[in-house]
Amino acid sequence: MSTIHLAINAKPYTVDVDPQTSLLMVLREHLDLTGSKYGCGEGQCGACTVLIDGKAQRSCITRVGSVSGKKITTIEGLANGDRLHPVQQAFLDVGAMQCAYCTSGMIMSAVALLQKNPNPQPNEIVEFMDGNICRCGTYPRIVSAIQKAAKATRETAAAKGASR
Ligand code: FES
Repeated sequence: MSTIHLAINAKPYTVDVDPQTSLLMVLREHLDLTGSKYGCGEGQCGACTVLIDGKAQRSCITRVGSVSGKKITTIEGLANGDRLHPVQQAFLDVGAMQCAYCTSGMIMSAVALLQKNPNPQPNEIVEFMDGNICRCGTYPRIVSAIQKAAKATRETAAAKGASR
């Protein structure tokens, strides 16, 4: 057991755990942040995706001891008060989910993609999202949602720029 300090969604947390414990287990079982899902437990499905220092990472294969002091963002940290993140809003608008088990991981990966590439083409979206599995097969709507979120984000940035 070790005392580990974590910064999750801009809030400090302290947990007493084995540093080898997965970040996903700590999020879900110790901190009640259950938006990140356990799918395969082997880094193969993407259901557990979170952002670590802005990069999409599989929390099921990330040891909690390795992320102390890093900036962790989970699905619970995306919305701004009552306002959903543009990617969350676009997934809802487009209905880019069926059972929705993969959705939080999909959204986290999409957020990481749009931070890197604000105007991704469909093939770039497919390539980047390749490691996130949707067993219901809603991929076309997921691609549409990411394009919609990208457009909304660009328009918001343009409107902000114009008002300066
Ligand atoms: Fe982590 Fe599948 S549960 S990648």
